[in-house]
Amino acid sequence: MPTYTLPGLLYDYGALEPHISGKVMELHHDKHHASYVRGANAALDRLAEARHEGQYDNIAALEKALSFNLSGHVLHSMFWRNMAPKAGGQPHGELASAIDNDFGDFESLKKQMNAVAASIMGSGWAALIWEPLGKKLLVTQIYDHQSNLAQAGTPLLVLDAWEHAFYLQYQTRKAEYFDAVWNLWNWEDVTARFNRARGQGAEYEMPVQRADRKNAPRRRPFRKEDLDITAVH
Ligand SMILES: [Fe+2]
Repeated sequence: MPTYTLPGLLYDYGALEPHISGKVMELHHDKHHASYVRGANAALDRLAEARHEGQYDNIAALEKALSFNLSGHVLHSMFWRNMAPKAGGQPHGELASAIDNDFGDFESLKKQMNAVAASIMGSGWAALIWEPLGKKLLVTQIYDHQSNLAQAGTPLLVLDAWEHAFYLQYQTRKAEYFDAVWNLWNWEDVTARFNRARGQGAEYEMPVQRADRKNAPRRRPFRKEDLDITAVH
């Protein structure tokens, strides 16, 4: 029984049209996402073999394969749920307030996300994340599926900027795809992720401890010979 399985879509392939075509969704989910699931399971199997044989010569490549494929599986699983038919618009409530606080306004978030997606060198994602140390929303640019994400950050909304996500439909007009996907964001899903993420992060809070002056050991008074660095104290 493989550890990871391809999740089914919650809507039909064609349900996101005209913004994302049914053919793109079918290939993206059934071929690309499925290959990351297979790759993650294969990496686990090969790591188990390496442990069994005590053979770690190839360990760096195996760990990279695991990270790449598992992260691809996680991000695509999120991406399908971040979108919904007849969705889009803007979030409400505390998520809307957090966006205003951290980006200025919703339009500025959209511009930043799309600029991040458009400027990726190679393949990657733009992601809205919750950063628990600063307790704020950030946008990050993820290379491939696994590099450049702030370590403690929890992705809330991810925009797939790989060519396989748009090329069949939009060819070189990728900016049109980045605009179109804003008609699909499922803010209920993003809000639920936001609410869960804000409950995390207590493990990063380290209170500044003041010295307990009352019980601190008393220092001996300064003596003139302390200035003599050759002296043995
Ligand atoms: Fe993708």
